[in-house]
Amino acid sequence: MLIAIEGLDGSGKTTQARLLAEYLRKRGKDVLLVEEPGTTPTGKAIRAILLDHGREILPLAELLLYEASRAQLVREVLEPALAAGKIVVADRFALSSLAYQGYGRGLPLELVQELNAIATGGLEPDLTILLDISPEEGLRRKVQPASRGEAGVRPTTFLDRLEESGLEFLRRVREGYLKAVPPPPRGRVLDAHLSQEEVFRQIVEIVELALAL
Ligand code: TYD
Repeated sequence: MLIAIEGLDGSGKTTQARLLAEYLRKRGKDVLLVEEPGTTPTGKAIRAILLDHGREILPLAELLLYEASRAQLVREVLEPALAAGKIVVADRFALSSLAYQGYGRGLPLELVQELNAIATGGLEPDLTILLDISPEEGLRRKVQPASRGEAGVRPTTFLDRLEESGLEFLRRVREGYLKAVPPPPRGRVLDAHLSQEEVFRQIVEIVELALAL
């Protein structure tokens, strides 16, 4: 079973993916947690290129890099794990490319879908959980993480200084996610403005239901 956790940066998906993997392991399941881009050595090298802000990467080149990382991940890690009967929890999968490179950057959606299909070899998540959050709240969480009492350490004017185009980009990504997430039961949308505990409770409920099917 392949479970993908998706959402904007700051939606809490990395935390929730970890909590879910832990929960399933305690329940006696054989679980593998992967993240995109990354996980494999090649994927990590690609991630370093992608997240290096000192370099300009054209949208098409960016898409191809994410897809290259995905192609490697699917064949090197996902296919063997799924064949061995493991539950794979993926922190982002192909829907990220559709939302960010397609809806966000404006590349043709058919092109992204086609490359997604090639990179994944047609592998689709059994369950996609979208943690829906407003770009403003997502950014706020990234700039001011849990470490309260340290006001002033991090720039509180970050949001003000962020170019409007940055927010507009994230708004398109969010709308894209909401349009492209599969309908239930394969896809579920959760309100990520709720507390971490409440979001996790809902994730467990959804996953338990999927496991029972
Ligand atoms: P992620 O690792 O989730 O962020 P974080 O560093 O906060 O854990 O994702 C890194 C960035 O990659 C994120 O801004 C979204 C972007 N991304 C795409 O644009 N397209 C994709 O296909 C994927 C997988 C990620």
